[in-house]
Amino acid sequence: MKISSAQIRQKYLKFFADRGHAIIPSASLVPENDPTTLFTSSGMQPLVPYLLGQKHPAGKRLVNSQKSFRAQDIEEIGDNRHTTFFEMLGNWSLGDYFKKEQLSWIFEFLTKELELDPKQLYITVFQGNSSVPKDIESIKIWKELFQSVGMVADENERIFAYPAQKNWWSRSGEPDKMPAKEPGGPDSEVFFDFGQNLLIHEKSRYKNEQCHPNCDCGRFMEIANSVFMQYQKQPDGSLQELRQKNVDFGGGLERLAAVVNNNPDIFKTDLYISIIQIIEKITGHSYLEKINRPPMRIIADHLKAASFLIVDDVYPFNKTRGYILRRLLRRSAVKLYALTDKTPQSEMFNEIASNIIQTYQNTDYFDPIIDLPKISSVISEEINKFGKVLAKGIKMIEKTDSIDAKSAFDLYQSYGFPIELTAELLEQKGQKINLGEFKDEFEKHQNISRTASKGMFKGGLIDHSEAVTKLHTATHLLHTALRKFVGTNIQQKGSNITSERLRFDFTQSTRLTDKQKQDIEIWINQQIAEDLPVTRTIDSLSGAKAGGALAFFGEKYGEKVTVYTIGNEKTGIVSQEVCGGPHVTRTGVLGSFKLGKEETVSAGVRRVYAFLKPK
Ligand code: ALA
Repeated sequence: MKISSAQIRQKYLKFFADRGHAIIPSASLVPENDPTTLFTSSGMQPLVPYLLGQKHPAGKRLVNSQKSFRAQDIEEIGDNRHTTFFEMLGNWSLGDYFKKEQLSWIFEFLTKELELDPKQLYITVFQGNSSVPKDIESIKIWKELFQSVGMVADENERIFAYPAQKNWWSRSGEPDKMPAKEPGGPDSEVFFDFGQNLLIHEKSRYKNEQCHPNCDCGRFMEIANSVFMQYQKQPDGSLQELRQKNVDFGGGLERLAAVVNNNPDIFKTDLYISIIQIIEKITGHSYLEKINRPPMRIIADHLKAASFLIVDDVYPFNKTRGYILRRLLRRSAVKLYALTDKTPQSEMFNEIASNIIQTYQNTDYFDPIIDLPKISSVISEEINKFGKVLAKGIKMIEKTDSIDAKSAFDLYQSYGFPIELTAELLEQKGQKINLGEFKDEFEKHQNISRTASKGMFKGGLIDHSEAVTKLHTATHLLHTALRKFVGTNIQQKGSNITSERLRFDFTQSTRLTDKQKQDIEIWINQQIAEDLPVTRTIDSLSGAKAGGALAFFGEKYGEKVTVYTIGNEKTGIVSQEVCGGPHVTRTGVLGSFKLGKEETVSAGVRRVYAFLKPK
C-alpha cells in the first residue's frame, strides 16, 4: 500500500487538528450509560448530548478514530467490503462550521492527503422530502470543488441526489423511523469508483440495471459521509431545526485503506492481510481460491471483533452483548472446522489474536501485556467448551432435512449452536427450514441479541431520560459507598443503565455481606435525604485527578474533562468523578435507593444491580 492504514489514520487526525479540532480518544465499544444500543457503532454515538447542545469540554471542533461494531451486519460478512468491527474516522462541528468547510476539507483530504484521483470520486446528496428541501447548497459546493481541479461535475453524472433512504442519517435511519428527540439530518457521501477496469457491474447480478453510486454491484464504494445534523424529531412526529447546526462526519478506515490500495477487497489491506495469511497457514488453503474467501473473511472479521470486545470487558454469555460475542467465536470455530475438518484448537485462535494486536501496534487500543492473555483465556475457555460438541452438532445438522423449533433449541442447548448458526448451516445445505414455529423462536432469540434494535430505542434513554439521569447520579453514590464500606481500592469496571435499573461492575472477589449491603443502602439514602447539590465543572484530566476526582477509564478521556461533584464545601463533598453526565442537579429528587441482585462477571469482578423508587 502506498499509504499504510496507520498513516491514513494519522494523516486524518493531523489534518483536522491543523484545522482547529481537538483530538479526542476512542470511546469503549460498550457504551457507558447509554441504554439505547448495545455497542458503539459510530463515532457520533458517545457525542449525542453534545450534538444536542451540551458544551463539550474539548470545544466545538472534534476529531477521532472511533472503534465501532455493527452486529446487524453479521450476516453480510463474507463479501469484500463488510466487517462487523471497523474504525470510523470522524470529525465534528458542534454548531461551528457547516457545509462549505466540511465538504472542502473532505475533498482536500481525499485528493491531496490520500492522493485519490478526483475522477474516481462520485458524490451523493439528499434529494429532499415533504419537510426538508433538496440539498442544492451541497451540490453547488461540490461543483465548485470539482471545478477547482479542472473538472465539470454535473448532476446525474458525477453528483447524484437520492431520497432519505440513502441520504439521510440518524442512529435509527430515515426521518420516519427516528424516535422523538433523536437528532439527524441530510448527508452527502463520497463514493470511490473501482469499476472502469474491473467491469464489476457487467459481471454482477445488477448487470441489467443502470450502474450508479448506490448500485450494489461493487463498482462503487462509499468512503466518506458528511451528515448535516441539524434536525431533531419532535414528539408530534415533525422535524425541527436544532439550535445548533452540526456536522457529523464518518469514514471507515478499512474502506479508505482499500481505495488507497486501489483494490476493493478490504481483506487485502494491511489491516487484514496478515490475519488472512495466518488463516491460510492454519488451514492449508489459499485465499486466492474464491471458495475459501467468504469463510476466511468471516474468521478474520469475527476474531478481530471478538478481540476488541473482550478488551472492552464483554464476555461470552447467553444474552445481549455476551451472546453476540459467543456467536462470533462459535461461528469462527464452525468456519475453521469446515476448512480443516478438525476441531479448532485454542492455539489457532491465540495466534490470530496475537497477530491482531500486532496490527494495531500504532494505536492505544491494546496493551499487549495485559490484553493478549485476557483475550486468549476468554477465547480458549469458550472454544474448548464448544469444541467438544462441535463435531456432534454439525453431524446432527447434516443428518437433518428440515428443522423444527424444538430441534433448533436442542442444538442450542445441548451443543451450544446459536440459532442463527443452525439456520445458516441448514441454508448452506440448501435445506428447508421449517419456518413457522422456528421463526418465532428465531425472532425471540434475535430480539435478545439484536443491537440498536427499535425495541431498545423504545425503552431507552431517549424516552426515559429523566429516570436514566437519576440512576446515573445514583451510580456515583454507589461507587462512593462501595469504596467506603467494602474497600477503598474498589475500581469501577463498567456500568450500564436502563430506565428501570442501574448495573455496576467493580473489582472485588467476594460477595457483599448483608451488613455491607445494609450500610450502603442506608448511607446512599442519607445522601439523598440531605438533598446535596450536584455540580459540573470542566478541568484538565491531571487537574481533576489531583483534585481527587475518580477517573478509571484513563486513556479514554481527552485533555479537558467534565467533573461531576456531589456535595460542596459546606455539606462536604461525597463524590467527585470524571464523567460525561448528564446528572440531576440535587440528590433529593432521586427517591429511595435499593440494591438488587449481585453476581460474578469474571474472576475478580462483581456486578450489582440497584433501583430507585419514588418516595
Ligand atoms: N454518523 C455517520 C455515519 O455513521 C457519519 O455514517
